[in-house]
Amino acid sequence: MPVINRIAEFHDDMKAWRQHLHAHPELLFETRETAKFVVERLREFGVDEIVEGMAENGVVAVIKGQGDGPVIGLRADMDALPIQEVRDLPYKSKHEGKMHACGHDGHTTMLLGAARYLAETRNFSGSVALIFQPAEEGGGGGRVMCEEGLMERFGITQVYGMHNWPGMEAGRIEMRPGPTMASADTFDIVVTGKGAHAAQPDRGIDPIAIGMQIGVAMQTIVSRNVDPIHAGVVSITKFHAGTAHNVIPEEAMLSGTVRTLDAGVRDRIEARLTELATSIASGMGGSAEVTYIRGYPVTVCDPASVDFAEEVANNLVGPENVSANREPEMGSEDFSYLLEERPGAYVYLGIGEAAGLHHPEYDFNDAVSPVGASYYAKLVETAQPINR
Ligand code: NI
Repeated sequence: MPVINRIAEFHDDMKAWRQHLHAHPELLFETRETAKFVVERLREFGVDEIVEGMAENGVVAVIKGQGDGPVIGLRADMDALPIQEVRDLPYKSKHEGKMHACGHDGHTTMLLGAARYLAETRNFSGSVALIFQPAEEGGGGGRVMCEEGLMERFGITQVYGMHNWPGMEAGRIEMRPGPTMASADTFDIVVTGKGAHAAQPDRGIDPIAIGMQIGVAMQTIVSRNVDPIHAGVVSITKFHAGTAHNVIPEEAMLSGTVRTLDAGVRDRIEARLTELATSIASGMGGSAEVTYIRGYPVTVCDPASVDFAEEVANNLVGPENVSANREPEMGSEDFSYLLEERPGAYVYLGIGEAAGLHHPEYDFNDAVSPVGASYYAKLVETAQPINR
């Protein structure tokens, strides 16, 4: 795989970092030891500034290039998942019930690799801000860092992120302009009726009958209320009610998730879901209370930044190993918050055949680490060349 030579020279170090991180996974905002490891490496590399403690255990490092210029942001996530690892790898998770099943150990390693190279060579103008964030897998560490003034504090003008992708050829880089990952919201609906003997339904108000109508009606939101050109998902994932064969209960509960690739569709689905639930319940003599919680927004890549990322990827791995026409994913990503604040691009890096993301047999492919690190480094050198 084509990479920057200097980065290839320390491939073994990157492997060692990655496997150390893999063996010591931490969840959500609790990436204390991971952050400590990152800071130790950054100190060895001689970066110019390290800020710890953003979003509890996030780290930002600044490397200055030669001469004045803008600040480009590069981001990696550091957190693991509450999954029990099943493979008996030599660097298997030492933390019961936790594992790096999404490859954030690889993401952190690739950004560290770029940091080492950039701190050594400084073949760029302006500065680079390396963002190591906690809590991507829920919790919104990226959102919290933005709320703590990430962009303003470091003067970041554009941001780039990356995710490894199992099942895609190792070292291949794909992306798309515009929406690339979905918004992810959750909802809970509590339907209240009136309990009764199951043999005397006329004396009660059946919340199960109401809940079933709501469930059926909700299936019409995407098919009847969303522009057919746009994507939307409404999935009911829980429906709980009742305790006995001969009792009509007082309450029924429905919960689920809503995914979209467009802020307008998201607003529309939230409004329709609430209207349908409350009006069907009241029409049938009961009531419904809807709690709609907005999660990560749509991850929207800036088209000009995607063009730029494509050019950098083409020069690195060759155009035959790059696509900028990837289909969007209905998964979600909290890099979306960074992209709401600054233009940038999010790319997928193939790791070859491997268990899927969030699977207990997943493992990052160390072979691609130099590709990811080289891509990050080339983004900086190409975006901010030295003024001669
Ligand atoms: Ni992930």
